[in-house]
Amino acid sequence: MTPEDRLIIALDLPTVDDAESTIKAIGDAGAFYKIGYQLMPIGGLQLAEHLSALGKKVFLDFKFHDIGATVERGVKSVATFGGDFLTVHAEPDVLKGAVAGRGDDPRLKILAVTVLTSLNQESLTRAGIDIKLEDLVLKRAEFAAEAGVDGVVASAKEATAIKQRFGNELTIVTPGVRPKGVSADDQKRVVTPAEAIKSGADHIVVGRPIIAANDPFAAAKDILKDLASTE
Ligand code: C5P
Repeated sequence: MTPEDRLIIALDLPTVDDAESTIKAIGDAGAFYKIGYQLMPIGGLQLAEHLSALGKKVFLDFKFHDIGATVERGVKSVATFGGDFLTVHAEPDVLKGAVAGRGDDPRLKILAVTVLTSLNQESLTRAGIDIKLEDLVLKRAEFAAEAGVDGVVASAKEATAIKQRFGNELTIVTPGVRPKGVSADDQKRVVTPAEAIKSGADHIVVGRPIIAANDPFAAAKDILKDLASTE
């Protein structure tokens, strides 16, 4: 995989116009973009179509979570629409619905969100979930593998254990990545791009260090260089 294939740039921006100018500024340093809740209701899907037409890959971060039949219908619509990665939550019925909805679409890959990185052990206890966080991540990765989805979203900390257990059966996509010397923002545990790959990640998701940089092209290029050092 090339460094450009590994780097997924999160378009966490307030308007499609802002996203379009950021994409232009990043130029050929950006090959894979993530569109999430912020843009989805205000033209994010049209933006996804535009990105696909430009030959870029698109990660639709919907994080579907509903009864299996509804997830199945939703994923079917996404598969018809187009897209490269799509997230759903890692519950058996949700995963089963997602796999059924995708059918044999050769392009769309389903990623399971294991445990959100904003949650810690205390949040699980408060929610009545009485299991060690790391064990829950692995359990949900197991649900993902059993259901036949393509990968998981997991922090670098969890990536190693998931890679060890599942090898290349699951693609690992890792957020919480910061180049050396760049602000961590609100991310709790950050690793550098190269560290994420060494931990077992296949792709990294990076937002603010690129989209809020004075020179998004240079910021993305620096990250690509760090990724290339792992080849
Ligand atoms: O700006 P930053 O690089 O922190 O953005 C990271 C992106 O990854 C955001 O779009 C965020 O929603 C997403 N994400 C995350 N942690 C997760 C899942 C997704 O940071 N566990």
